[in-house]
Amino acid sequence: MASNRTFTMIKPDAVADGHIGAILAKINEAGFRIIAMKMTHLSRQKAEGFYEVHKERPFFGELTAFMSSGPIVAAVLEKENAVADFRTLIGATDPAKAAPGTIRALYARNMGENAVHGSDSDENAAIEVAYHFAATEIFG
Ligand code: RTP
Ligand code: MG
Repeated sequence: MASNRTFTMIKPDAVADGHIGAILAKINEAGFRIIAMKMTHLSRQKAEGFYEVHKERPFFGELTAFMSSGPIVAAVLEKENAVADFRTLIGATDPAKAAPGTIRALYARNMGENAVHGSDSDENAAIEVAYHFAATEIFG
C-alpha cells in the first residue's frame, strides 16, 4: 500500500534566498496538505544522522556542512502517492536537469544547494518524519 505521507526540508540555500513562501505555495497548489512544520537549525551531528545512508559518499562532508549552515524548514506532507508525487514536484537532484516548473528548477542554486529534500521511499519517509517530529507535533 502506498503511504500518504512524505517528509521535506526547505534547505538553507532556499531559506537564505527568501523562497520559503513560494515553495510552500507550490506544495499547496500541488495538492499536498502540510500536517507538521517547523523552522529549525540542524546541528552538524543531526545533519550527519539524517544523511547517514550517504556517509561513504564523497560529498558527505560538504552535504552535512551545508545542511547545518543555516536554518531550514522541515515539514510532513500528506497526499495520495505522496512520496512519488513530491519527487516529481521537486525535480531532479541537479537543478540543471530538473524539469521546467519544478521546485529545484525554479529555486535551487546547484547540485549541492538544491533548495529542497524529498523522501525517496515510504520506508524512509516514516524514518525521516520520526527523526524530526514527535507524534504530538503531527496533525494528520
Ligand atoms: P534529497 O535526498 O536531498 O532529497 O536529494 P536526492 O534524493 O535528489 O539526492 P541524494 O542522492 O539523496 O543526495 C542527497 C543530497 O546530497 C547532495 N548531493 N551532492 N555533489 C554531488 O555529487 C552530490 N550528489 C548529491 C544533494 O544536495 C542531494 O540533494
Ligand atoms: Mg535522497
